[in-house]
Amino acid sequence: MAADIPVVFDCDTGIDDSLALLYLLAHGEVDLLAVLSSAGNVPADVVCANNLAWLALCGRDDVEVCLGAAGPLVAELMTTEDTHGPWGIGYAELPTGLSTRSQRDAADAWIEITTDRPGEVIGLVTGPLTNLALAIERDPLLPSRLRRLVIMGGAFHHPGNTTPTSEWNIAVDPEAAAHVFAAFGRDGAPTPIVCPLDLTETIVMTPDHLARLAAAADSSPIEQPGIDDERGTRSVASNPVVAAVVDAVRFYFEFHADQSEGYIAHMHDPFAAAVAVDPSIAATMSACVDVELGGTLTRGTTVADLRGMWGRDPNAAIAVAADADVFFDDLIERIAHLARRAGSVSDS
Ligand code: RIB
Ligand code: CA
Repeated sequence: MAADIPVVFDCDTGIDDSLALLYLLAHGEVDLLAVLSSAGNVPADVVCANNLAWLALCGRDDVEVCLGAAGPLVAELMTTEDTHGPWGIGYAELPTGLSTRSQRDAADAWIEITTDRPGEVIGLVTGPLTNLALAIERDPLLPSRLRRLVIMGGAFHHPGNTTPTSEWNIAVDPEAAAHVFAAFGRDGAPTPIVCPLDLTETIVMTPDHLARLAAAADSSPIEQPGIDDERGTRSVASNPVVAAVVDAVRFYFEFHADQSEGYIAHMHDPFAAAVAVDPSIAATMSACVDVELGGTLTRGTTVADLRGMWGRDPNAAIAVAADADVFFDDLIERIAHLARRAGSVSDS
């Protein structure tokens, strides 16, 4: 299977960003051109180290990792270690990779990669949009060079997870999000596919999914974390990728349970990654999207004009429906294959 889907992945790794990275590495048709590190869930340098470590674990030191901006365009940086763990990957402890981060920063990588391959590259952003906004400021022609842009972010007819109305990736850097939405959907630039909480909070990982992953990866024992487990229990899985995923997601299960959402984990970012590779898995609705910047209560809120009240052209395709079971079957199968491959290398 030819790796003929070139992807630039900008993330704030994070537990679900980690699963998105593994999905992209596992997908035989994806040519992962670069992983760009955005400050968000944890500081940018920690995000960068996490990206390098996951790539090392999977034997993919060949993938370029760039450091992004240290903070948002205007706002003070906020991070969320309570959600993703002190180092952003839950309880997982990953080996430090041999490779080091790229000499170029994330914004320059956006500009140079799309200049080298105009019209070919799929952009996926699962963190704040700071790096992409900076890149567009440096090179306003960048949007028209992208083949596709998928953004995990926003909440439209659904409660926020950061303020009552705002979603984390947008809330961290509202100005960046507003810049990006204003730059796409016109002048030859693609219309971004936006995966909001409205949909991604229906993509619910359970402990059974982890058990299925372990079985498919020929890992043992088959572990199924439980809410009554001692907090911080570490995986003893034989496969190193499975063990790291179980340790990372266990923290996320505990966080969601503490938020009274159940012992589950919303898989926002790997779902957006799957949409980036195959947009047909989600139904979308066209809208003009903008971001509230001035509201005292509503700053960082994404607003969708579905009826043309603003008299502005649509600049987003909002993902509104998908089959979560089909997504998890795909995710488990692909990451299990990656885990078997990585596991066989580490055994050799
Ligand atoms: O609101 C969920 C999003 O914010 C996910 O991308 C998560 O990783 C955090 O970045
Ligand atoms: Ca993220």
